Amino acid sequence: MAGPGCDAGRVRVAVVGLGWAGRSIWLPRLREHPGYEVVALVDPDPAIRAELDTTAGPGGVFARPDELSRHDVDLAVVAVPNHLHCPVAVGLLEAGIPVFVEKPVCLSTAEADRLAVAERAGGAVLLAGSAACLRADLRALYTLAGQLGTIRHVDVSWVRAHGVPDAGGWFTRRDLAGGGALVDLGWHLLDAVVPLVGPGGFVDAVGTVSGDFVADAAWSAVWRHPGSVAARSGGDVEDTARAFLVSADGVSVTLRASWASHEPLDATVIRVEGSTGSAQLDCTFGFSPNRRPASSLSWTRAGTTTPVDVATEPVGTEYRRQLDELPVLLADPDRRGVAAAQARSTIAAIERIYDSAGRPAPVSGQPGARGRATVTGRLAATS
Ligand SMILES: NC(=O)c1ccc[n+]([C@@H]2O[C@H](COP(=O)([O-])OP(=O)(O)OC[C@H]3O[C@@H](n4cnc5c(N)ncnc54)[C@H](O)[C@@H]3O)[C@@H](O)[C@H]2O)c1
Repeated sequence: MAGPGCDAGRVRVAVVGLGWAGRSIWLPRLREHPGYEVVALVDPDPAIRAELDTTAGPGGVFARPDELSRHDVDLAVVAVPNHLHCPVAVGLLEAGIPVFVEKPVCLSTAEADRLAVAERAGGAVLLAGSAACLRADLRALYTLAGQLGTIRHVDVSWVRAHGVPDAGGWFTRRDLAGGGALVDLGWHLLDAVVPLVGPGGFVDAVGTVSGDFVADAAWSAVWRHPGSVAARSGGDVEDTARAFLVSADGVSVTLRASWASHEPLDATVIRVEGSTGSAQLDCTFGFSPNRRPASSLSWTRAGTTTPVDVATEPVGTEYRRQLDELPVLLADPDRRGVAAAQARSTIAAIERIYDSAGRPAPVSGQPGARGRATVTGRLAATS
């Protein structure tokens, strides 16, 4: 296992970044999971630390990730703002602490390369990957896809009715988030299609981006701050991206990621077209309350569509499943380099889409540096 504590049983875990994801997704699930012991919480915000001090339990509360020691921590779960994923993960890896990093794992191929170098330098593994791939409905689609002959095309979309995260905060600043709906929701979608199109990445990608909703607080993700009215809005990222990609194995993919739309519900749709039939999953990824009430799966062959039984699980079940999986990955010496390589492939596709949409290259790690595109100007005009 990764460190001295793991052999004794539970993985001693630190949560780095205790904002919405840290406190809503990771901390409660880690605390109730028998495979983990939460030994440290890290956040630079004094108000968050003060709140955590009263609830932290036996673990320590720290302001900086570099206060963690590999002798005390077997795994750090990193859920900081996007532009800090790479620097925080690199620091931890170089210190010999294995890391699970939230999506988007990195904001450029150069950052993916830095992660791979840090992994080797520190001798600690980088883990990552969207929990969506562990949903029961998506796994049923993967199984069905194996019966469709040669896969020719995948059409994947995650379109929210209302769901711009924290408009006016870091999520909608390109220098801090690296992009909008494409790096946020699109990262999950690109992870989800890997088992369908192969791990070889994409040889081509073009797309468009637009920002018709991001400047209006009425389209914000209300579930992130229940009871409070969004006071801020705006930003310089897209709320919608549409793309066409071609995988190394020659499978085409159409992708749409939208934080907001004129649709009534938040919907995720994945349709797989094979040489001997097609299959379609309709569901809702993520935590939005404005979701399809149940997942549905069907397959179509020679003019006949047949429904397939599929489980609709409680919201967030896939994250518990991901925690079940992490100790196994942590113990597997062959995982070294896998997450960094996958992240490199994903961000390379995203970079190509943004390039084709006329957006300048990401400027990650430089807070305050603003891109030339704005949602009210160029981005709004591109689709
Ligand atoms: N997997 C999912 O479904 C999912 C859902 C939501 C968010 N996320 C991801 O989680 C990450 C965090 O998102 P969020 O919604 O929690 O954002 P957030 O702004 O609510 O929280 C970020 C937290 O990180 C803290 N932070 C900043 N710098 C830090 C540092 N150097 N060390 C430690 N903590 C630091 C901030 O003080 C803040 O508390 C993002 O990358 C986001 O994309 C993933």
